[in-house]
Amino acid sequence: MRLGKLGLVCVLASVTSLANAEQAVSQDVKMINLAHQSGCVTCHAISGAGKGPNGLKPIGPAWQDVAKKYGSDPDAKAALVTTVLNGSSPYQSHWKGEVSGFAMPPNSVVLNEEQADELVGWILHLAD
Ligand code: HEC
Repeated sequence: MRLGKLGLVCVLASVTSLANAEQAVSQDVKMINLAHQSGCVTCHAISGAGKGPNGLKPIGPAWQDVAKKYGSDPDAKAALVTTVLNGSSPYQSHWKGEVSGFAMPPNSVVLNEEQADELVGWILHLAD
């Protein structure tokens, strides 16, 4: 099912005649692939109020909500890249009450700084 959706995006990308749109779509595909490969989607949805297991709140915040919260803050990106690589502190939860996860584990074992930077940059524009 995951591949089916990505396949559809690829088809859309190849039939569009607008170079810009094609570029934007291929960046979406690249980032969605990276998020899947890195395991982010186990805990994060891209949009919507997806439910976690047993009807609990989702484990991590939907990335469109992350974009709404930080998208207008120019300093947010660097801090979020660090959080993605090193994990978050359960004592300084930024999403308390909104998600069922207490903290994010470090992700530096699955993606490098350059990839984290590109992924966070993409996430921060999801509310546009
Ligand atoms: C095991 C579950 C889990 C995985 C895997 C995970 N996250 Fe998270 N993520 C969370 C939780 C829980 C939070 C909320 C932390 C908080 O409340 O401060 C979070 C928060 C975030 C935030 C917002 C941080 C903040 O300070 O508000 C971003 C951005 C993010 N994750 C991106 C990612 C990316 C990119 C990946 C994959 C490389 C990823 N996450 C993988 C659970 C996860």
